[in-house]
Amino acid sequence: MKLEPFDNDRLSLYMGTLGMPGLTAYVGLLKFGEPKEGETVFVSAASGAVGANVCQIAKLKGCRVIGSVGSDEKAQWLLDECGVDAVINYKTCGDLTEALTAVAADGIDVYFENVGGDHLQAALQVMNPFGRIAACGMIASYNNAEPVPGPNNLMLIVGKKVRINGFIVSDHADMRPQFLEDMVGWIETGKIKSRETVVEGLDNAVSAFLGLFSGENFGKMVVKI
Ligand SMILES: NC(=O)c1ccc[n+]([C@@H]2O[C@H](COP(=O)([O-])OP(=O)(O)OC[C@H]3O[C@@H](n4cnc5c(N)ncnc54)[C@H](OP(=O)(O)O)[C@@H]3O)[C@@H](O)[C@H]2O)c1
Repeated sequence: MKLEPFDNDRLSLYMGTLGMPGLTAYVGLLKFGEPKEGETVFVSAASGAVGANVCQIAKLKGCRVIGSVGSDEKAQWLLDECGVDAVINYKTCGDLTEALTAVAADGIDVYFENVGGDHLQAALQVMNPFGRIAACGMIASYNNAEPVPGPNNLMLIVGKKVRINGFIVSDHADMRPQFLEDMVGWIETGKIKSRETVVEGLDNAVSAFLGLFSGENFGKMVVKI
């Protein structure tokens, strides 16, 4: 199968920005987050395969974007290369709700949820009335051996009239043609940038997968065989 227009040197784009993670970002943000120009969008796991695309699409839609990541290097890339307005390093910021409050003086209108736990708690606390949460994933809880307490501020969903939509990208294949048209254009014009971490060899696939849970990937994790 010929993959156009990036069929030679940038084939792995079809696993990341032009593939499932890119479509996940596009569907989750635009269909469920419904960002409006001038609104503030908060994105967790913001430098990842999904998150980095969410950040950049939100910027293209005229939003103020705040990301959360686990390293200063990832934060700097989002600020310098992706035009993100503010980035929190959740590992070093201290209290996440306080850190988010400090960079979101006008609150947040959309939260793109990749992490769960304290990120969801912080987002709810800072959310504006009629905010939207596109619930994409909650990676912080995937390996929990025991149930952990959830956010203790869920009642805010009521008073703030927050809308939370879970979604699975495979239910939204109908958006793929429009996604490809938009995304190819954005890549070709340099409006969307991608990072990837390439691991060589099938023998290293398991450790590459496990690396997702400790943030060893920068952008899309690709195993080359
Ligand atoms: N709903 C859907 O259809 C759909 C489709 C694809 C993916 N997803 C979900 O989308 C999310 C992102 O997936 P992805 O493929 O783009 O992965 P990714 O963001 O490329 O990689 C995972 C990243 O999550 C961060 N992370 C890991 N453990 C964390 C923790 N305990 N607290 C905070 N951050 C943590 C790490 O970045 P840091 O270094 O920044 O910590 C890591 O690099 C995941 O939750 C995934 O399950 C959902």
